[in-house]
This record gives sequence, C-alpha cells and structure tokens, in this order.
Amino acid sequence: MSKFYKIPVASVEKLTPDSVAITFDLADKLKSIFAFKPGQHVIVRKNIGGEDIRRTYSFCSAPHENVFRIAVRQIDDGTFSTYANTVLKAGDVLEISPPIGAFTFSAKPAGTYVGIAAGSGITPLMSMIRTALTSDDESKFFLYYGNRDAKHTMFRAELAALKNLYMGRFSAQMFMTRQAVDIPFFNGRIDGEKISHLHAHVFSALNVNGYYLCGPKSMVDGAKDSLLTAGEPEANIHSELFFVGDESARRKIASAPARAKVNVIMDGRKVEVDYRDEHGSILEAVLGAGLDASFSCKGGVCATCRAKVTDGDVDMAINYGLEPEEIADGYVLSCQSIPLSKTVTINFDA
Ligand code: FES
Repeated sequence: MSKFYKIPVASVEKLTPDSVAITFDLADKLKSIFAFKPGQHVIVRKNIGGEDIRRTYSFCSAPHENVFRIAVRQIDDGTFSTYANTVLKAGDVLEISPPIGAFTFSAKPAGTYVGIAAGSGITPLMSMIRTALTSDDESKFFLYYGNRDAKHTMFRAELAALKNLYMGRFSAQMFMTRQAVDIPFFNGRIDGEKISHLHAHVFSALNVNGYYLCGPKSMVDGAKDSLLTAGEPEANIHSELFFVGDESARRKIASAPARAKVNVIMDGRKVEVDYRDEHGSILEAVLGAGLDASFSCKGGVCATCRAKVTDGDVDMAINYGLEPEEIADGYVLSCQSIPLSKTVTINFDA
C-alpha cells in the first residue's frame, strides 16, 4: 500500500507552453522518506472534480541537489496534467508517495553513458545526467533527444547550460519532427534505423557503460532492438515507457476460471478476495474488496501495482514495468493479471 504525504508546492515554473516543473517544499523530517535514486518517480494523488486521480511523475532534479522537483507535460484530456499546467500554484498542497521505480542510474568511476529520450521522457534522464556529470571529473553523457520543435523542448535552456559547463563531457543532439534542422539526419523521430547508424558510427567507439531509454513504446522498442542487434548486452540497456493509457487486462482466456479465490497478503494481513470475470484484473478485485492496493497507471507501465504470486497461476497481459528477473521471482503487475487457477495467493508486501 502506498502511503501518501501532503506536501506543499514551493514553485510551479513553465518549462514550455505545455509543461511545468513542480518543486516541493519538503520538510526536513521527510527528506529521508523521499530520498530517491536518479530515474525514480513518485505517485501524485489529487482529488479533482470528486475523482481520485493518481499519476506517476519522475524527478528531474538529482538526489545530491537536495531539491525535490518533478516535471509534468500537459496531455490532451489529461485531468491532472491540465490541472498542473493551468491551476496549480505555489502554496497548494499535493499528496505524493515516497519514490519508487526500477529505472535507476548508478554512476561508475569515469563512466560513459548514452541517453535516448523523446518528449517528457527527458525528465528522469535530467536527474541521471546531473548525477553522472557531478559524480567525478571524467564521466561523460551523450544525449539524443527528440521533440516536435525547439519551443516544445523541455529543459532546452538547462541542457544548453550543461553543455557549456561540462564541455567535452556532455553533448545533447536534438531531433525535431516539425522544425527543419541543419543536419538532415536529425530531422524526424528517433527510430531503430537512426540508432543503428549512431551505434555503428558513434556508440561502438565509446565503450558505453549504460544506455538509458525513455519515451513512447515505438521509440524505446526500436532503439532497444537496434542496440541488441548491434551486440550490446541486454543488461546495459535500461528503459522506461511513457504512460500508455489505461490498457485493460480484460481478455478471455479459455482456461481461466470465471471465479477464483485470491488470498491477498497486504500490510501483514491475509484477506480472501473473490475474483470474478467482470473484475478484469486481480487489482480491480482487490480494490473492489475495499483493500488499499497501490496503483497508478493501470496500464502495465508504472509497476506501482507489483505483487508476488506465491501460490497458484496467473496470466499477465501487458508488462512494460517489470524486469525479467522480477518475473522469474514470481512478481506480476496485478493490474494486468488474471487468475488461471481456482486459488491464487498474491503478496503485495513482498
Ligand atoms: S498500476 Fe501501473 S503497472 Fe499496474
């Protein structure tokens, strides 16, 4: 279960016409609870129009800066993102959960890193870039960043300042889809073909310690496939997807029982929950039983609903949030999982 803390907003700054950075005024006594790793995110909860809205947003600040700042891009019909971009102001209070997320970065001595981002996928990478460049005097970070045009490029001024400050150790190459750039290669989206080209002509000579990919699924999948095909070890490729919408786990599997008994372990208690076909996912059955399970995207992306199956079988429809080792250990995304056996035991505390 996520615990939420009421945190005042210290400032709301416009980054682009459609995005803001929100800095929290975190009391000293909460700083250890909100200690984060570069790349991690928080769940922001807000009641808007009577609806309990929860969204995940990554920190753009780096842990050593002692600043707790996230960035929010306004999306079409996005309830929270519109609120954050048009209504939220300094002094308002938001509920936020302690940081979570496995898309994290640890600096190695004199490390070399490549970041590939599109749109607001830059947010967690900003935290990683700042961490890498300040970890020692030799680490290098090469960023490839796609946007529609310069005006809508989040952190454009900060990236330019970082280039000046860390000349020779940081570079940022911008791809634009709706604004012509001087070098034709940087026109259009970042895709697998471009990454293959970059690997052959740039990355292969760099001895890269880690690739960090964040953006829409098509970009992340294309870049990842190209890096793997080029021989990069999977363990060196780290990725996180944007929120991809409420992709329901609802589906029919002939062998799945219409009803099942789900033993839920949460907060040290064991509670029996009846799962029925109409729930569509174990998470919905658990929430429907009045249990306070953690969730945010319900789309298989954020991994907030992660739990460990310790008995019985489940089927997970979509997984953008768990690493292969977690799946091998029995973890599932409960928002994407349905029971395959008549009895399932699932541990939300694990
Ligand atoms: S709630 Fe985000 S993956 Fe399940």
